[in-house]
Amino acid sequence: MEMPLKLTVNGQPRRTYAPADALLIDVLRDRLGLTGAKYGCGMGECGACTVLLDGAAVYACLVLAVEAQDAEITTIEGLARNGTLDSVQEAFAAGGGVQCGFCTPGMILSARALLDANPHADEADIRRALSGNLCRCTGYDKIVKAVLAAKG
Ligand code: FES
Ligand code: FES
Repeated sequence: MEMPLKLTVNGQPRRTYAPADALLIDVLRDRLGLTGAKYGCGMGECGACTVLLDGAAVYACLVLAVEAQDAEITTIEGLARNGTLDSVQEAFAAGGGVQCGFCTPGMILSARALLDANPHADEADIRRALSGNLCRCTGYDKIVKAVLAAKG
């Protein structure tokens, strides 16, 4: 049995239907067509599904969609403003922080949440904040350097 859902995603009200136990990652991807957040482990281990709830990075595979109804949800699709990439997106592109790209939306959103909370984050802060986002490709150094570059 499906129930109506009223979500706010990337500043827009979105209405859909889903089972009461539907996960946020599945609603975003399968009901709303927002496929930037990836489904990896499904167990809170890889961070590929990371989105922002009221500015905080969360694993969308561990959140029920119904629990997110009162929050402002930001996915990677909503990070650019008026056609201008977020500074973290710019820095990842410029600094080679992207290889296969599977981890990239989650990495960027975790980094954005960190820099919003702590604009003076240092390398240790960045590595700690990104420790829940796994990357099979980059070795992390270019990602960390990109986040350092993004804070200006
Ligand atoms: S898919 Fe959510 S943490 Fe891996
Ligand atoms: S760029 Fe491939 S998993 Fe990170």
